[in-house]
Amino acid sequence: AAPLKTQAAAHHLLFGFALNVRQLRESESYRRLVLEQSSIAVAENAMKWSALRPAPDQYFFDDADFLVQFGEQNRIKLRGHNLCWHEQLPKWFDATANGANARTLLTEHIRTVAGRYAGRIHSWDVVNEAVEPRDGRPDGLRNSPWLRLIGETYLELAFRTARQADPTALLTYNDYDIEDESPYQAEKRAAVLRMLRRLKQRNVPIDAVGIQSHISAGTGHRYGASLQQFILSCREMDLEVFVTELDVDDRELPKQVAERDAGVAEAYRQYLDVVLREPNVRAVLTWGVDDAQSWLSGKRPRADGVPQRPLLWDAQFRPKKAVSAVEQAF
Ligand code: XIL
Repeated sequence: AAPLKTQAAAHHLLFGFALNVRQLRESESYRRLVLEQSSIAVAENAMKWSALRPAPDQYFFDDADFLVQFGEQNRIKLRGHNLCWHEQLPKWFDATANGANARTLLTEHIRTVAGRYAGRIHSWDVVNEAVEPRDGRPDGLRNSPWLRLIGETYLELAFRTARQADPTALLTYNDYDIEDESPYQAEKRAAVLRMLRRLKQRNVPIDAVGIQSHISAGTGHRYGASLQQFILSCREMDLEVFVTELDVDDRELPKQVAERDAGVAEAYRQYLDVVLREPNVRAVLTWGVDDAQSWLSGKRPRADGVPQRPLLWDAQFRPKKAVSAVEQAF
C-alpha cells in the first residue's frame, strides 16, 4: 500500500508522528519509517520548557534545532509543542516565577523560542491544556501556575506574543478529554468552546484547535455526534482542527496480541471515521511512532504488566492492523 502521508495527501490531510529526538538520531529503522510515512511531525518533548530551559537565563536548543533541520531537509512540516503549559516546567520554575516576573518570563520565552524558528513551523501549540472544569472555577479554566501568577489574560498574552514572534505559524489551542460522550468531557468541550469564543471576541490571534485524541479501546465508548459538533463549532469560529496526539489505550482489551491489535485498529477506524468527515480537520499525528516508545506503558500500565500496543507500528517497526484501519478512514 502507499505510505500514509500519500494517502492522507489525497484527502488534503497531513499525517505524521510525535518524534523522540534520541531515536531519530540513533535508530536508522525509526528514521526510515518516519521518512517513508510522514508529512508532518512534532517533538514529543524537545520543545517543552523543561527541555529548552535548563536554567532561568539559559536555553538548550540542540535537540529542537536538530528536529527542525530534519524536517526541512526532508520536507516534513513541523509542529511546535508547546509554549505555555502547566506541566513539564523546569525545576527552577516554582522558586523563580512570581506575580512580578511571570508576564516577562512567559513573553520572553515565547519571543525567544517561536522567534528562533519563525517561518519554519507549521503550527504552534501556543497554549496546552488550559481548561479543567474539575478545578471548580466558573469559567472552567485550569488553576495553573500561569493563571495564578498572571490571571486569565495569560491566554491572550501568549497568543499575541506568539503571533508577533512568528506571524506565519498557525496558532493552536491544544487539549485532551474532549473526544468522548461522557458527561465530564461534554462539560470540558463546552468550557473549551466558551474560552475560545471569549478569545475570538477579543480578536486574539488563534487559528486552530488541537484535539489530542488520547482515546481508549474496549471501554464501550463510541466517538460520535458530540465530537462532530465540537469540530463544527470550531469551524464556525474559523478554526482549523488538528488531531495532535492520537493513540489508543488498550488496558481494557485482552492480553492476546491478535485480539488487542484488532480492538486498537477498530478504535482508530471508528474515531477517524467521525473526525475526518469534517472539512476543517487538516492533520493527524499519532503520539509516537512505534509501540516500544509509547508513553502509555509508563503512564497507564496494563494490569497484566505487558506493554501497551497503542500505536500503528509494533516494537519491531512492523505495521499493525491499525495501519489499514487508518487507511480505510482516510
Ligand atoms: C508526554 C510525553 O509523551 C512523555 O514522554 C512525557 O514524559 C510527558 O508528556 N499531553 C501532551 C503531551 O500535551 O505533551 C504529553 O506528552 C502527553 C499528554
